[in-house]
Order: sequence, then structure tokens, then C-alpha cells
Amino acid sequence: MVIVLMGPPGCGKGTQARFVCQGYPFVHVSTGDLVRAEIASSSHDSIQMKSLINAGKLIPNEMVFNLIMKSLSDPSRSYLCDGFPRTLDQAVMLDAFLNESGLKVDAVVNINVPDEVILKRLSGRLSCGVCKTIFNSHFNPPVQKDTCDNCSARLERRSDDAPAVVTARLSDYHMKSVPILDYFRSKNVLFDVSGDRSSGDVFAEVEKILKKDH
Ligand code: AP5
Ligand code: MG
Repeated sequence: MVIVLMGPPGCGKGTQARFVCQGYPFVHVSTGDLVRAEIASSSHDSIQMKSLINAGKLIPNEMVFNLIMKSLSDPSRSYLCDGFPRTLDQAVMLDAFLNESGLKVDAVVNINVPDEVILKRLSGRLSCGVCKTIFNSHFNPPVQKDTCDNCSARLERRSDDAPAVVTARLSDYHMKSVPILDYFRSKNVLFDVSGDRSSGDVFAEVEKILKKDH
């Protein structure tokens, strides 16, 4: 089974993915995490990736696709795609790639959050670089300042959470990612969820979608 989590930057895709993977046997494939790992490994493409991510721009399709293909390699597993596809071309590429293994996108969960809420959320995001737990200084602070509750590592702010970069990411989202919604809606696999409420309430909706007969 393949489930896609969609929605603007900061809508809660990573947060919901963690909840899902705690209760269900999905492999979490986050293209943002894959790109950040690639940058950390100083690979051939890492300089270009770093300058694009820090400008709030999308990475070229071929680079992202190379990363995603390696991560979706076992058709017997269930995958939760977070942050992919993000353009209509990527959606078509993903469908063609899955089709080769007899798979398809079974459901797309589109988490809706207004831009002004996103700006507030991303101004407070704190991420653990070690175990990837996500916190928020406004809405979900760690018990001890800047320290991960889960593994005690020091929490970090993402460089692309600077307000000017968030505005660029939101603009790219509205221009390039929103058109994918109609593509998936026409295939009857799109489920809209309001993300502007507690993460537990959002998860309750996500769980109902997972339990449907796809
Ligand atoms: P990526 O890492 O995927 O970033 P994004 O899509 O912009 O989404 P975020 O990770 O910022 O937010 P999220 O929705 O996961 O929210 P989170 O759960 O953390 O991609 C980064 C970059 O990589 C892109 O800009 C691009 O350059 C590149 N890239 C990635 N994929 C690509 C692709 N396919 N093609 C091309 N380039 C690509 O939550 C955010 C905050 O809100 C947290 O602090 C959290 O605690 C809090 N929060 C979550 N839910 C709630 C709630 N219900 N109430 C209150 N607070 C909440
Ligand atoms: Mg994320």
C-alpha cells in the first residue's frame, strides 16, 4: 500500500507520519529528510541541494527521483510518502514507477492549514537531528529547553524555517503543488483533512482514512 501525505510546509506531515508509523507497519519516506541527509553526506549534488533548500526552492525532479526510487524499492512493503510528489511531473513519474511494480497510490491525505498558522508554527519548530522527533516552542515544547525528550540530543532549528524562506516555500507550494490535488482528486484517491487543530485530532482523521478499504 502507498499513502501520500500532502499539504503546505509546516502543515504537520512529519508529525502525522511519526504517529502513523508508531501504530502501523509503514516505511516513512520523507524527501525532505532524504535531501537533508544527502546534504550532510556532502555528496556530488549536495552543494546545489543546499543552496536550493536554503532559498525555499524545489530540488530538480531527477535528483529527488533518484532518492525516492532507492527508498521505494520493495513492493511487498507499505510506504508513507511525505513531501513527494510535489509537482504534477513528479506525480506522473511516481504513478509510472509504482505501476512497474504492480503498485499504485492508494490514498492521498491532504492536510489543510492556513498560511498565517504555518508562519507561526514554523517560527517555533525544533527538530531532533538524531531521532527526528519534532517539537514546537509555542505548541509542543520539550520538557527541558532545546533538548529532545526522546533521546536527549540538542534540538535544532531548520535553516529553511527563517520567515523569508517560509514565504518562498509557501509561494512555491501554491504554484507547483496545489495543481496535483486535482490530479489525485480525478483518480478518487484524495482525502482532505483540516490540519488546524490539535495533532491528536488530525491523527484521528488520518487513521479513519488508513482504515478505509482502498
Ligand atoms: P520538507 O522537509 O518536506 O519540508 P516541507 O514540505 O516544507 O514540510 P515541513 O517538513 O517543513 O513541515 P511538515 O508538514 O512536515 O510539518 P511538521 O510535522 O514538521 O522539504 C524541505 C525542502 O526539501 C523543500 O523546501 C525542497 O527544497 C526539498 N524537497 C523536499 N521534497 C521535495 C520534492 N518532492 N521535490 C523537490 N524538492 C523537494 O510540523 C511543523 C511544526 O508544526 C512542528 O513544530 C510541529 O511540532 C508543529 N505542529 C504539527 N502539527 C501541529 C498541530 N496540529 N498543531 C500545532 N502544531 C503542530
Ligand atoms: Mg516534514
